[in-house]
Amino acid sequence: MKVLLVNGSPNVNGTTKFALNEVAKSLNEEGIETEIIDLGNKAINDCIACGYCASHEGCVFNDIVNEFVKKASEVDGFVFGSPVYYGHPTGRILSFLDRVFYSGKSVFKHKVGASVITLRRSGATASFDVINKYFTISNMFVIPSNYWNNVHGPSKEEAKYDLEGIETMHNLGKNMAYLLKAISLAKENNLPLPKLTFNERTNFISEKDKM
Ligand SMILES: Cc1cc2nc3c(=O)[nH]c(=O)nc-3n(C[C@H](O)[C@H](O)[C@H](O)COP(=O)(O)O)c2cc1C
Repeated sequence: MKVLLVNGSPNVNGTTKFALNEVAKSLNEEGIETEIIDLGNKAINDCIACGYCASHEGCVFNDIVNEFVKKASEVDGFVFGSPVYYGHPTGRILSFLDRVFYSGKSVFKHKVGASVITLRRSGATASFDVINKYFTISNMFVIPSNYWNNVHGPSKEEAKYDLEGIETMHNLGKNMAYLLKAISLAKENNLPLPKLTFNERTNFISEKDKM
């Protein structure tokens, strides 16, 4: 079983990496393989709503997004981490996630996901909500911890004093590992994943309403 962790900070070695490493350590202790992917500090194109991905495989911009969706199809879980910038996740991770989920949504169905937020002071829960919305529109199982998943510190040197934040990361890893094992056991014991329907698409005023 494998989990991909994405560092949505331009700093490859900052607070977000510190927090993701804590989740990864906790998962590794439970025998879950992990890989951390840094989005880095180069510009990431946002979604231009061109519709290319509706009729082709992948996004029209053949970059880290297409690479990630390919990798995502082979793993079981995801942790997306971001610092707070002006009360929201980084523009970088939002550009990345908009394109990942728009072009590759089906890859995520019935897999597990969690978001991790780092910050100096304020804006954690608003940012947490933004990332969790990618999971809850994609039929993913969202993993909880004993607090909303954030670690405080303007730098990783200060973040190491946020003991409660670190414990929250540790428990997040344990909860994620447990659900991954439970899903695997369910498969082994022939408990099928839920059968979903995708028949309806209404924009609040449907054809039926017009009749
Ligand atoms: C442009 C910018 C905006 C920021 N906005 C906030 C904010 O709204 N609230 C906050 O608590 N910290 C804010 N910060 C601080 C970062 O969230 C914090 O330093 C975080 O730990 C950085 O993570 P990193 O080391 O992984 O990049 C901001 C930092 C930058 C560069």
